[in-house]
Amino acid sequence: MTPRRAGLFAMLLLLAGVLLWLFLPPAVNGDARIANDPDAIARGEYLVIAGGCNSCHKGTEDAATFSGGLALETDFGTFYAPNITPDVATGIGAWTAQDFLRALKHGRTPGGSFYYPAFPYRAYAGLTDTEVLDIAAYLMSLPPVTHRVPEPDVPVWLNRLTIAGWNRLADFNAPMPEALATEQIARGEHLARNLAHCGECHTPRNSLGLLDYTREFAGAELGDQVIEAIDAAALAQWDATSFALFLLIGLKPDGEFAGGDMNDVIEHNTSKLTAADRDALAAFFTRATP
Ligand code: HEC
Ligand code: HEC
Repeated sequence: MTPRRAGLFAMLLLLAGVLLWLFLPPAVNGDARIANDPDAIARGEYLVIAGGCNSCHKGTEDAATFSGGLALETDFGTFYAPNITPDVATGIGAWTAQDFLRALKHGRTPGGSFYYPAFPYRAYAGLTDTEVLDIAAYLMSLPPVTHRVPEPDVPVWLNRLTIAGWNRLADFNAPMPEALATEQIARGEHLARNLAHCGECHTPRNSLGLLDYTREFAGAELGDQVIEAIDAAALAQWDATSFALFLLIGLKPDGEFAGGDMNDVIEHNTSKLTAADRDALAAFFTRATP
């Protein structure tokens, strides 16, 4: 091989490597199956409540179902929460366990393409496989609803494939793992950072829409809503008891009640958690930080 050819060959190899790194489908457990036993379905129902899936996926035509259609207006375009009932034609009726693992933990569509991060899969990435499969068991146990949801309305440059690069940037930007003092705080962390995705609203974003973990929970603006900070400095007046009470009924230590989107989060999600899980969230947010 002449030096020029060798150079070209090396360039092509590098390019192929970069493309693979960006687009290769994530490896997931090929043996996983979606259960249909009542225990898995009950666990999945609880996880779906804790995960706040209904706040986006509730049907615009029938709010008692997960048949989707809600328009999420963002700085990057309008996204529509899909129908996640097991309807084969318009929902996820044909999904396998592997499709659920790739979607929730990696933001990948069954066809290998990419979801837009309006679907908070970066938070759900921290779910265990068992949690995802329980969620799948619950969703698959629901009655199918036929409801076709519009495709997202985004600027041309924001192609689904663009998200391949965004995901890699998000990987580099991921938070440092933190040593947590007790099992209760660790449970609270899992709920806060993963399932209940508190940071998706409460953590500020940079211009690329990536969460700024150097200012985790420092408050943000979402559309015209101001989202208060819930970091250690902001919670100086709170203790674990008042925080847990807030998650149950929305009452703040200063006697005010939560408004806006937080009211929905409390009504549909945190008030329906077990007391132990609310206490775990409270222990996490009011933990002593170095
Ligand atoms: C903040 C809003 C939001 C929340 C909360 C949310 N999703 Fe979604 N979800 C979306 C959006 C938007 C999409 C579509 C993204 C796209 O078009 O690329 C989506 C896509 C999906 C898909 C893929 C559906 C398909 O037909 O391809 C599944 C499955 C899903 N979500 C399940 C869940 C589950 C389970 C939860 C709760 C654990 C959840 N979502 C919470 C907004 C949300
Ligand atoms: C959909 C977006 C959204 C999500 C998700 C969300 N919040 Fe909020 N949160 C808000 C908004 C908006 C406010 C301000 C409400 C108001 O104006 O009263 C708020 C207010 C709060 C407050 C009151 C702060 C203060 O000083 O008054 C606390 C505490 C809080 N949220 C905790 C949480 C926790 C814990 C989670 C996760 C379990 C969470 N939030 C998830 C939007 C959200």
